[in-house]
Amino acid sequence: MKKDIYIIANWKMQLSNQGAADLALSLKNYKPSLIGQNLELVLCPSFTALVAVSEAIRDSNIKLGAQNAFYHESGQYTGEVSSTQLKDLGVEYVIVGHSERRKYCGENDDSVNRKIKVVLEQGLTPIVCLGETPEERLEKKAEVTIIRQLTKALEDVDLSGERRIFLTYEPVWAISPAPPATPQEVDEMTQLIRQLVRDIYGDGIFEKKIKFIYGGSVDAQNVNSFLENDMVCGALVGGASLTMDKFVPLIKKLIT
Ligand code: 13P
Repeated sequence: MKKDIYIIANWKMQLSNQGAADLALSLKNYKPSLIGQNLELVLCPSFTALVAVSEAIRDSNIKLGAQNAFYHESGQYTGEVSSTQLKDLGVEYVIVGHSERRKYCGENDDSVNRKIKVVLEQGLTPIVCLGETPEERLEKKAEVTIIRQLTKALEDVDLSGERRIFLTYEPVWAISPAPPATPQEVDEMTQLIRQLVRDIYGDGIFEKKIKFIYGGSVDAQNVNSFLENDMVCGALVGGASLTMDKFVPLIKKLIT
């Protein structure tokens, strides 16, 4: 039996409202019967395009995701958006702790942990990003960074019941236009992350509750090389998800 595959399209701060809706609609009309069988496609547009994309993908198997959520549910937090508000719009997934938010927006291990808890409490699925910077890799601190990020991210996180979590290994040095990590580099981190999850939650939890995916310059040419690893069940895709020209060949590799 084919494994379930998850492709998360992170559109970042790109595409107009109309551009995001048009792309979502084109994806919906592209072999709709195949998307949703063993392939789950999640579109994460900017907050401003969530409504338009939600309408575009209505009555399809495509899911809606957000790129961030605040760690309070409501209150005097100007400029923030809560998981409750996102859920209202039909959002099912939330990216938490992307390296660009860590770099530019003050996201840190503590806020990532708080956000994961709130997202889960709302019944949404967090897509947690882990990854070392180029400097950390050069200084041979990649593993230390991943251990720190993951240990804090999962601190007191309840994974009982239906709760599940996506963990993404997305090294900062592999985000386009840089070349991707090699499948072997991904495999090494996957093993480390699986062991850490086992240390925290015990045996069996990684397989039952964690969906492990890779991000960083994933495209049609390389996507299957990452998926050959039994533990990797998907990809977080930036640039290659922004046009039908690039995204359809990637999807085709997974459904044919
Ligand atoms: P690219 O696929 O453009 O390298 O972006 C990766 C990323 O940051 C997805 O979250």
